[in-house]
Amino acid sequence: MEWITKQLLDWYSLNKRDLPWRHTKNPYFIWISEIMLQQTRVEAVKVYYERFIKRLPDITELASIEEDELLKLWEGLGYYSRVRNMQKCAKILVEKGYDNLPSTYQELIALPGIGRYTAGAILSIAFNQSIPAIDGNVYRIISRFYVLEESISKASSYAYYATYINRIIPIAYSSDFTQSFMDLGSLICIPKNPRCGECPLKEKCQAFLQKRVEKYPFIQKKKEQKIEERNVYLYIYQNKIGIRKREDKGLLASMYEFPNDTKSVSSIAIENDLFENGISYEQVLELGESKHVFSHIIWYMKGYLIYLKDPIDLLWVSKTDLFSRYSIPSAFSYYLHVIQKLELK
Ligand code: ADE
Repeated sequence: MEWITKQLLDWYSLNKRDLPWRHTKNPYFIWISEIMLQQTRVEAVKVYYERFIKRLPDITELASIEEDELLKLWEGLGYYSRVRNMQKCAKILVEKGYDNLPSTYQELIALPGIGRYTAGAILSIAFNQSIPAIDGNVYRIISRFYVLEESISKASSYAYYATYINRIIPIAYSSDFTQSFMDLGSLICIPKNPRCGECPLKEKCQAFLQKRVEKYPFIQKKKEQKIEERNVYLYIYQNKIGIRKREDKGLLASMYEFPNDTKSVSSIAIENDLFENGISYEQVLELGESKHVFSHIIWYMKGYLIYLKDPIDLLWVSKTDLFSRYSIPSAFSYYLHVIQKLELK
């Protein structure tokens, strides 16, 4: 066994975090945890994971749950295409007569939302197969250890790092090996101010020996995010709130939302518009501003609370139903707080 491998495994056996998905080898559960963890912190995932596996203990249940309830289970985690893809996978697998995830790379990689990393994570963690799973932690640890200077944002980076992992991944302990990177990367080999003094790899970590740890990994600058200014309209009619469903593709596909647009407006202009369109209203109030950062877009939002005298073409829901039955993306969370504080019967 390679020196680095033994160091990682010994360190992991003493220092591994006790996480809910580490009490199982069920590939379906491991998959759920991996998908949730893709864009969300470990602490936040814990509760979602427990609730999800309780409500949907196997792929048959996942395949058959109503989409609205599924999205509700995911509410707050964001990036909803992740859970939609999971349901697609479950439907495909159930249709084929499977009762859990397949155990080969070819079959996993062919499923929606399962890429090289997720396939590697499931195969190594749940099936103990020696397949690399390269995430940000692996890039950081390996680039530091071997002083690799290729930018990790290149399309070829995954394959390049896989050659390093393939040389050191053990045959028997692949599950612990993969997870040791996650813990070392979260606890010791962190991006800023890494705790090199406590690191099991410090004797042979080239970046540490050269005192250049924080220079790694090398990353090419990303393109700037597009900025969008949005108006968000909270329409109230007879104590109900007006929401609508987004179209089934693109950003936040099929989610419910408060009506919003990118018109350049003020509350005066809104009152004019309402008047021009023959919509009678009682009051238009300006709400605060809020911001939401997506991966490629940033929304700068300004809210308006509009009390209508006549309904317009929206789905009118009570405050209770809004919170219990509909999943509104976290981009609108500021306006959900506003609604929460409103006196509505
Ligand atoms: N990040 C991604 N997968 C993880 C796992 N299985 N444990 C801890 N952190 C993770």
